[in-house]
Order: sequence, then structure tokens, then C-alpha cells
Amino acid sequence: MALINLGIRHFRNLQPVDIEPAADLNIIIGENASGKTSVLEAIYFLGRATSFRTNRFDRILQKGQNSLAVYARLKSQKGQIVPFGVQKDAKTVKIRVNEQKVTKVSDLVANLPLQVIHPNSHQLLEEGPKFRRRFLDWGVFHVEQTFYPAWQRYQKALKQRNMALRKKSRKDYISIWDKELIDNALILDKLRKNYINDLQEILHHYIKPVLGDMDSCVEYQQGWQKDMDFPEALEKAIEKDMDRGYTTVGPQRADVKILVDGVLANERISRGQQKILVTGLLLAQAGLFNQKTNKKCILLIDDVAAELDEKNREALLSILINMDVQMFLTSIEKQTLSSVLDSAKSGKMFHVEHGVLSEVI
Ligand SMILES: Nc1ncnc2c1ncn2[C@@H]1O[C@H](COP(=O)(O)OP(=O)(O)OP(=O)(O)O)[C@@H](O)[C@H]1O
Ligand SMILES: [Mg+2]
Repeated sequence: MALINLGIRHFRNLQPVDIEPAADLNIIIGENASGKTSVLEAIYFLGRATSFRTNRFDRILQKGQNSLAVYARLKSQKGQIVPFGVQKDAKTVKIRVNEQKVTKVSDLVANLPLQVIHPNSHQLLEEGPKFRRRFLDWGVFHVEQTFYPAWQRYQKALKQRNMALRKKSRKDYISIWDKELIDNALILDKLRKNYINDLQEILHHYIKPVLGDMDSCVEYQQGWQKDMDFPEALEKAIEKDMDRGYTTVGPQRADVKILVDGVLANERISRGQQKILVTGLLLAQAGLFNQKTNKKCILLIDDVAAELDEKNREALLSILINMDVQMFLTSIEKQTLSSVLDSAKSGKMFHVEHGVLSEVI
């Protein structure tokens, strides 16, 4: 699937955008502060109803405007045309998918799988487990339909159990929620574990050209003591849970260790190599999505060449060019990407200047 039209209104500094992106590669060139990241942010907004740079609506809304909108037509794998639109003002968000009103953002996300790689994606290595869980769950959500309902049921039971713990309820009252918690934890755990195994299998393809012989791996951590099953871990933790007032074990504590030569990546490899690794991980996800669903996802890559030397840049671009995704790449520099455009199945170059986006013919 691919976006075949894209419209953007009142988003950051962008003047009304109406473009027809190419199905494979789209390159967006422009000077600093021209609006490149804003274009990617607007496409992301169309798929997630939020930004990857901020949670504040007033930041993305164009100065002096009351509401913003991003809309597009998507051509599905089967050739169907599906219109999408997200319109937002300070109070409400209106989402439409295929002429239908959508109230849950998860329905939007499921229909428009997109992934973004930007300079802050580095958080995946440096920040807490929340970022890696988000990475993991993006992958599982898009390839396993049973994941989201189980995740919702788990969150509901967890909330109830935590409330009981906070209120210092009796032990037998707290354990009322344990069955629901355990049933769904087992589903989530199995899906996440299988997903990481699959990801590990294809990871080398995306990383080897740039990390060479270094051995990189993703290691799943379930969120409770290794070699213990979840009911046992839950029972063992009850005193601690009662003391702390929340559930201290379970899928909500899962993590993915990202290792190079057996050491945490951010303690082992250079900054440039880390950027390559993070990019490789996210590309591997897009590749796995493609493999499992036979669909293309939309990949937004901001400042693709930044921080990379020529050799690594070439290696990365050669991986990108062979991916079956609809890609939007931004760069300050035209030269680096011109050759990539020639080798793409279909490609277009756009230029952005003071918020005006136009196709380079
Ligand atoms: N809400 C807003 N309304 C109007 N303009 C805004 C708003 N938010 C940001 N801007 C301006 O939009 C411009 C474009 O920002 P953007 O981050 O998209 O640039 P960029 O092309 O990605 O630059 P860089 O190459 O430095 O990353 C900036 O000058 C910024 O000040
Ligand atoms: Mg930018």
C-alpha cells in the first residue's frame, strides 16, 4: 500500500500541501528550518493522530490558525483506494477512514502502518524500557491481531489490581484480578517472544553491511524473573506489591536488551554506529512487517545522512533502496540522494522552501 495523494493544512510552517507521492521513494530536500521534518510529522500525524516531536497540539498547529488537517488517499495492496483524514482543533479530533468516522486511534494505526526514524530514535538505546516496549509492541501489534485485545484486557485487569493494592485491600481481594492478568500476560508474552525471535533472524541483513562482523542481538526480557512462570512470579511478589502499592512484575515491565558483542550497544559502539544500529532495528521491523503481512508500510526517515560518513551512508542507502516500503526521506543535501532516486522502482524528489513544498521535475 502507498499514499497516492497527500494534503496538509495549517501544520507548523507548511503552506497548503497537495502532492502525489511516488509509491516507493520520496525525497524531501530543503535548508534548515524550511519544513522538512514538519512534512514527515504531518504524515505521522495522519497515521497516529499525534506527533513524534511533541504531545502539545498548540506546537504543531500553525500560528494564527484554529484547526489543522492532514488527509490522503491510500492505494491498498489489492488496488483499492482508501481515503484517510485527521482533523484536529484544541478540543476535538475527527478521524475518518474509508468514509467512516473512527473513534479509536488504534483503528487508525491498524489501517495505516507507519514507522518513523529520526535523530531522537536513539532513545531506543539510551532511555528506559518504555521506549523499547513501544518498539516491540509496534511490531507485534501490526503482525498479530490477537495482541491488541489481549493488551487491552491485561491493562484493564492491571489497573484494577493496582487500585486494590493502592487502597491496601485484603490479599484475597487483590488476587481476584490474577486470573485475568495471568491469562492475558501469557498471550502477550508468547507473541512478544516469538516476534523478537523472528526479528533476530532477519536483523543481520539490515545491520551486517554496516556493523561488519560485530555480533548484534536483541534479547527479550519478559518482565519477571527468568526461568519462573508468571503465576509463580506474581505469587512471589505479592508482599512487595502490597508494600509498594502496585504490581511489580508482568508484561508492563518487559524490556528488549540490544546487545553488540554481548554488551549493551550504547556502552560498546560509537555514536555513528549506534545510529546505524537503531536505523537497522527499525528497518528490520518494517521488513518483518512486509514479510508477515505482504503489505508495504510507510517509512519516514528524517535527516537520513546526518552523522554518517560516506561509507556508512552508502551502505545504509543500499539497504533502503532494496526495501519494499513507501519511503519519505529528508535531507539537507541533494547530492547524496540523487543516485538513490535513479535506482528506485518509482521515485520523486520534492523541495521545500519557507514551508512551500513542490515537486522537483
Ligand atoms: N506552530 C508553528 N507555526 C508556524 N511555524 C512553526 C510552527 N512550529 C514550528 N514552526 C517553524 O517551522 C519551521 C520548520 O521547521 P522544521 O523543523 O520542519 O524544519 P526542517 O526543515 O526540518 O529543519 P532542519 O533541517 O533544521 O531539521 C521552523 O522555522 C519553525 O520555527
Ligand atoms: Mg528537521
